[in-house]
Amino acid sequence: MCALGIIRPILLYLLSTLLLLNKGRPSSCKLCSAGRDSSCPKEIAREFEKGVGRKLHRDLVEFDKKNKHTSYISDPWFDMYLCARDPVVLNFNPFISLNPDPKEAYNSQVVRATNLVVSSIKFLNSLNNEFLRPDIYYVNPKWSQSRLFKKFISLLPTSVSWYGAYMVNAYPLDMSQYKRLFNSSRIPKLNKDELFTNEWGRHLLVMRNGHFYVFDVLDPGGNILHPSEIQAQLIYILQDADRLPEFSLCYLTTEDRNTWAAVRQQLLEAGNEDNLQKIDSAVFCLCLDNISLKNDTELSHCMLHGRGFNRWFDKSFSLIITSDGTAGVNFEHSWGDGVAVLRFVNEVYRNSTRHPAIVPHSSPAALSATKCERLEFKLNDSIQSAINAARMKFEETNEKISVRMFEFRKFGKEFLVKQKLSPDAVFQLACQMTAYRQFGKIISSYEACSTAAFKHGRTETIRPTSILTKQCSRAFVEERSKHSVAELRNMIDECSKYHRRLQLEAALGKGFDRHLFALKHLSVSRGDPMPELFLDSAYQKLNHIILSTSTLHSPAVHLGGFGPVVPDGFGIGYNVFDTWVGCNTTGYLNRELQEFLRCLEYSLTDILDVLEGRPLV
Ligand SMILES: *[C@@H]1O[C@H](CO)[C@@H](O)[C@H](O)[C@H]1NC(C)=O
Ligand SMILES: *[C@@H]1O[C@H](CO)[C@@H](O)[C@H](O)[C@H]1NC(C)=O
Ligand SMILES: *[C@@H]1O[C@H](CO)[C@@H](O)[C@H](O)[C@H]1NC(C)=O
Ligand SMILES: *[C@@H]1O[C@H](CO)[C@@H](O)[C@H](O)[C@H]1NC(C)=O
Ligand SMILES: *[C@@H]1O[C@H](CO)[C@@H](O)[C@H](O)[C@H]1NC(C)=O
Ligand SMILES: *[C@@H]1O[C@H](CO)[C@@H](O)[C@H](O)[C@H]1NC(C)=O
Repeated sequence: MCALGIIRPILLYLLSTLLLLNKGRPSSCKLCSAGRDSSCPKEIAREFEKGVGRKLHRDLVEFDKKNKHTSYISDPWFDMYLCARDPVVLNFNPFISLNPDPKEAYNSQVVRATNLVVSSIKFLNSLNNEFLRPDIYYVNPKWSQSRLFKKFISLLPTSVSWYGAYMVNAYPLDMSQYKRLFNSSRIPKLNKDELFTNEWGRHLLVMRNGHFYVFDVLDPGGNILHPSEIQAQLIYILQDADRLPEFSLCYLTTEDRNTWAAVRQQLLEAGNEDNLQKIDSAVFCLCLDNISLKNDTELSHCMLHGRGFNRWFDKSFSLIITSDGTAGVNFEHSWGDGVAVLRFVNEVYRNSTRHPAIVPHSSPAALSATKCERLEFKLNDSIQSAINAARMKFEETNEKISVRMFEFRKFGKEFLVKQKLSPDAVFQLACQMTAYRQFGKIISSYEACSTAAFKHGRTETIRPTSILTKQCSRAFVEERSKHSVAELRNMIDECSKYHRRLQLEAALGKGFDRHLFALKHLSVSRGDPMPELFLDSAYQKLNHIILSTSTLHSPAVHLGGFGPVVPDGFGIGYNVFDTWVGCNTTGYLNRELQEFLRCLEYSLTDILDVLEGRPLV
């Protein structure tokens, strides 16, 4: 299934969003009240639609038709990530943390690490054997989780199964990302990184106190090392890495990509090629952290960025397990999206808790059976000072990032559904009101939406900022006594309906963000002059995302989070639970973030008042 929306509705959304963000220009342009000399985004967008945009769109459709094996967005999206030169940590890598094992005694570091490693390798094996059922995106769980439905889908040839699923409102998801889940790493290169996948990865990379260890977890026949032997290796590593190294190479993966690419070159020349190869080709990275987490704030810091010396942030994913058995996954984002990692986390959580490979106090195997290698690096002065520089920069950034948890206990999904509202829409509306209250205007906002229903689909942006949310925000913030409760209630309804539509359209590939992104990419790759639309300040503003939001929900997940995408922005991982609303937020501007959460409480309370028929005071 290809994923091209229709240009007309897309431009209409774009127009309204551009115009919204650009209010306050001096009036004289008849279309949009921009000043005569300053550009008018509406005119620019119209011109784009009639002229260069039309041509680009035609070529994009042409290109898409010729490349039925993939999606038009796939390559440009990889390029976007791989060309970015900012450090991957905080700027790109998200994390998902797992709930504790319900059986208390299974949460000791070695027991949990062993069980999660074994379940992860089982997942790898079922991927290889293509035992994994395609992910299904359930729109109506009651319907489509039935045995009948699964049977129905499995009988359809893959080329039409998408349509089959469409008929019952569920979508089998694209699974192509999984080929880079294991044995993979991002390699820093000047100006554009590369993704590396080793077809025959058999060893696990284990990090402890900044030291690197590798040992084989699979034999050449694909059999998993006996769990008691994995356990023995991990116990050995914990004893062996009893102090920090003077220089931990890990800090280099927190660097700007070009700086890191240059140091990596030096590392190769200095004779570390074998070691780097072992890191890059390992099935995945297991980080055994020497830390006990006191609360969720500490947990988020640990999983999002840690202390820098015990992570290889370039690895497709790292499984992190702390001294108290808390587990989480930090993943590099270029190769795949949250949906793929969530599936992995869900399966591994379920498998490791229901079928644990070892039990507490089980005895490890004798050590001699397999070999565990500690990687020693050759570092000269210039490499050492590069590590020190990376470390200083990393620690400085860490000082600035704050993490804040937010809980609102007065209502949740159950209440909102009874009110016939979309819980997601209400949370997003509350964020819009909050921004309006805090900044006195609407600001660029982003809600991530998976487009994995399409072949090689990635994500689309839902734009929660609309004329409706703006009107509603203004009514709640500036015109509190002007509207009756019924009027306010009606505005919430309208916002909810509109948001649902935006969500559905994004999921069906009919958003405007990726389409415009692909048109721009096409234009740049041909060396055409940059169309005015992409240079206009309205487009820049649209893409300076202050509120970056994402939600995920699963019984396996304790919490998920990510950094802000711009220096003055917030990263908001949220969830509307049955009876409460929670989010974990990040930002470099600590005071603003605190204020945002204070206003969010206010906005949600206002919404509750109106839904329960109380006038705003
Ligand atoms: C990763 O390595 C394993 C073990 O050698 C292999 O079976 C698997 O096919 C590899 N996966 C990929 C995606 O290359
Ligand atoms: C773990 O860290 C603490 C300080 O945070 C230190 O005292 C202790 O020696 C460390 N243990 C190991 C095994 O590294
Ligand atoms: C360190 O090794 C690299 C690679 O061989 C080399 O480029 C660099 O000049 C060396 N630096 C010093 C101070 O020896
Ligand atoms: C979490 O624990 C740390 C360390 O004890 C403490 O400084 C911080 O205030 C705690 N945060 C919350 C939200 O309780
Ligand atoms: C989970 O573990 C059990 C028992 O080891 C195994 O039979 C099952 O296939 C596993 N499931 C997956 C998805 O690996
Ligand atoms: C943190 O965010 C995730 C979504 O990324 C959500 O599932 C989780 O419930 C949130 N946790 C809290 C305590 O709000």
